[in-house]
Amino acid sequence: MHLEMEQQEGEEDEYDGLLLLLPQMTGWVSSPQQNRRVYYTVLVILLLSLSVLFGMTKHTNTVDNERAVMWKVAADDDWLLETSQPVQVFLLAGQSNMVGFGSVQHLHSLIIEMGNYTHLVDQNDQWRVRSRVRVVLPSLKEESLTVGLGFNESFIGPELGFGWTISESLPNQNILIIKAAWDGYSLAVNFRPPSAGLGNYTNFRHKPFDDEKYGAAYREMLSIVNQSLEALAEPYEIKGFVWFQGWADQSPQKNSEYKTNLVYLIQDIRRALHSPDLCVVIGECGQYRGKPKDQENLQRVRDAQKAVTELFPNTSQLVDARAFTHENRTEHYNSGFHYHGHADTYYDIGAAFGEAMLKLMGVREDNHSG
Ligand SMILES: *[C@@H]1O[C@H](CO)[C@@H](O)[C@H](O)[C@H]1NC(C)=O
Ligand SMILES: *[C@@H]1O[C@H](CO)[C@@H](O)[C@H](O)[C@H]1NC(C)=O
Ligand SMILES: *[C@@H]1O[C@H](CO)[C@@H](O)[C@H](O)[C@H]1NC(C)=O
Ligand SMILES: *[C@@H]1O[C@H](CO)[C@@H](O)[C@H](O)[C@H]1NC(C)=O
Ligand SMILES: *[C@@H]1O[C@H](CO)[C@@H](O)[C@H](O)[C@H]1NC(C)=O
Ligand SMILES: *[C@@H]1O[C@H](CO)[C@@H](O)[C@H](O)[C@H]1NC(C)=O
Repeated sequence: MHLEMEQQEGEEDEYDGLLLLLPQMTGWVSSPQQNRRVYYTVLVILLLSLSVLFGMTKHTNTVDNERAVMWKVAADDDWLLETSQPVQVFLLAGQSNMVGFGSVQHLHSLIIEMGNYTHLVDQNDQWRVRSRVRVVLPSLKEESLTVGLGFNESFIGPELGFGWTISESLPNQNILIIKAAWDGYSLAVNFRPPSAGLGNYTNFRHKPFDDEKYGAAYREMLSIVNQSLEALAEPYEIKGFVWFQGWADQSPQKNSEYKTNLVYLIQDIRRALHSPDLCVVIGECGQYRGKPKDQENLQRVRDAQKAVTELFPNTSQLVDARAFTHENRTEHYNSGFHYHGHADTYYDIGAAFGEAMLKLMGVREDNHSG
């Protein structure tokens, strides 16, 4: 609940700080001293229950969970050692929905019960691992493409559908996907591109942010790209950038500058990567909201995302994530702003990003540009 509240307000990025204030805000306590006592008590109870839970789950893992998360086999297309083709590099950036909250358990049931996404498992129902596609996570950990590269091992992000789609169409090339995505990060503050200058935002205590807070994630993203490329032994080509973000920029102040910030982001990344025509795919926020006022604010972000792709008609594509949501489904694996954790939504969004990228790269036919 508090997460949604924090993100609706759109002004605070200090998630921990909000947790600290929670007892006071909910009226449990009145003085700061009491507040601290309640906080530590809650913390101790939380840690105790976590350790109990952890101990329990270690022994009570059902067969299904094991199947859903643990079993992985390599697909028969390893990293190509004998290729003259450069490694195709894609940067995937954004906030939590780019991190990925599609439930692996749900994906497993779609395969076993519905017969969908069967290409993701082998004949023994074990997860395939596509070693020709490497994924660098924000921690700089490098993995071969498979399930469990989302928020943690239990989740997928758009990288799965994206990587699978791209690699199917580029059978003779190695692919490197670099993920630079963090939960709750805004474009106005965290990813703020240098050309946008400093912002004028305050934290949850109504104190202005320190200057270095602006663009910290932008700089981190470029550093991750730099380190990933430095580690690469083979020649490479930076082919594309996928941006899937927006929930954290819903407040009127942030959504009013979303369009200019996103244009600057694209221009600054192209300059930094020495790639003036870098293909750009923008995922249009697809979450539905309850209240009309919130709908309006999210719609402004969506409008800005669309407007930006119109400014780069030949080198960008818009993908509306709403096309892949299942709002009326009753099984939920996560919250509404994470598309209820529906694995097909995350996979399909990623696959659509891949299709859009292939069009920009000229691999796929495109009937209408832009
Ligand atoms: C897969 O999912 C889609 C959409 O939910 C559904 O229409 C289809 O029947 C399912 N099964 C297969 C085998 O594609
Ligand atoms: C992944 O994160 C979820 C949500 O925080 C948690 O419930 C789950 O235990 C985690 N799974 C693993 C494998 O760490
Ligand atoms: C920044 O915001 C504060 C409070 O909203 C306002 O008083 C101030 O004029 C703004 N400064 C700039 C440079 O926009
Ligand atoms: C990484 O950054 C260093 C220092 O700025 C630079 O010299 C190097 O060329 C960069 N490497 C790549 C692959 O961009
Ligand atoms: C986009 O491509 C079309 C057709 O190739 C061309 O006429 C147009 O000038 C290009 N626009 C830009 C902005 O590069
Ligand atoms: C979802 O349910 C609402 C309310 O019943 C309905 O108006 C809408 O058409 C449904 N959407 C889909 C995609 O079935």
